[in-house]
Amino acid sequence: MKDSFGREIDYLRLSVTDRCNLRCVYCMGEEGVEWKPHCEMLSFEELERLCFLFSELGIKKIKITGGEPLVKKGVVPFIARVRHIPGITDVTLTTNGVLLEYYLDELAEAGVSSVNVSLDSLDRRTFQRLSGRDEFDRVYGAIQAAVRKNFRVKINAVLLRGLNDAGIEDFALFARDNEVSVRFIELMPLGTVSAYEMVPTGEVLEKISRVIKGLTPVSEPQGNGPAVYYAAPDMKGKIAFISAMSSCFCATCTRLRLDSLGRLKPCLSSGLSRDLKALVRGGADNGALKEAIRETARLKPHAHIFADRTNAALRDTAMSKIGG
Ligand code: 5AD
Ligand code: SF4
Repeated sequence: MKDSFGREIDYLRLSVTDRCNLRCVYCMGEEGVEWKPHCEMLSFEELERLCFLFSELGIKKIKITGGEPLVKKGVVPFIARVRHIPGITDVTLTTNGVLLEYYLDELAEAGVSSVNVSLDSLDRRTFQRLSGRDEFDRVYGAIQAAVRKNFRVKINAVLLRGLNDAGIEDFALFARDNEVSVRFIELMPLGTVSAYEMVPTGEVLEKISRVIKGLTPVSEPQGNGPAVYYAAPDMKGKIAFISAMSSCFCATCTRLRLDSLGRLKPCLSSGLSRDLKALVRGGADNGALKEAIRETARLKPHAHIFADRTNAALRDTAMSKIGG
């Protein structure tokens, strides 16, 4: 399946729930979000049917996200079923890590070899301030356990000026000493983040270069996404940057996003979406569903429109709904 700019669409981000057991300030905040009733979210049966159709259209890799996917009962058996769909070569998980350690063995059995753990600070108090919960020890423990169990572990850290940017060097040293990739993500203007200031990649790279010598870009691709990776001779892990704001990586974007309410979005920054749930529950046959997916892929914009802060679609789009 190609979009109208010739990009081969082979990657789906699938949000299985909008619920979460943390309250990150830039995502839902302490007040949480308005939870949608369970019946408004696609069931695992409905999701599985859609995943079959996506794979027939050329989707090869699926990233399971949330909210927090591990708070949804039955998600790991669902992942195992999706992993066995012909044509699906990769199923990975983005999690906040709170429940991760408990599920690691089951995930390995389900065929998951790579996990992305969101962790915005290596300092317990800062973690609590940013995520609203005192769960640092569990998340940190889960990361260590995942590394021990040979998962490929990527840590996603969103930097907010004045809140956690003092911990940039700590993250760099953590990547030096552990077999993990620490990926710094520029804050994107989604939902209610306007109170926070992002920290641009250039500045982060400069700070890290002072504590890690010989940092050079890694040329071979390390994942499916837009992250640019760096390594140094004495590092066990890697550092990466997802510069959503300061650089445009849209030319190589191959993904679609299905949110927890069953809306298929062509782009994170786009206000457009196609209501697959309405089609599924309205009795659409496989052909009609596949056509709706193809049409959505064709709506992928050439480039994102984050720079336009007045873009109303962004204000209504919290990550908890569309899942990173
Ligand atoms: N900008 C950048 N990253 C975000 N995330 C959530 N909201 C935002 C935002 N506005 C991150 C989470 C997690 C991933 C799924 O998305 O921290 O790492
Ligand atoms: Fe939960 Fe992730 Fe949102 Fe934090 S960013 S509140 S972990 S969904």
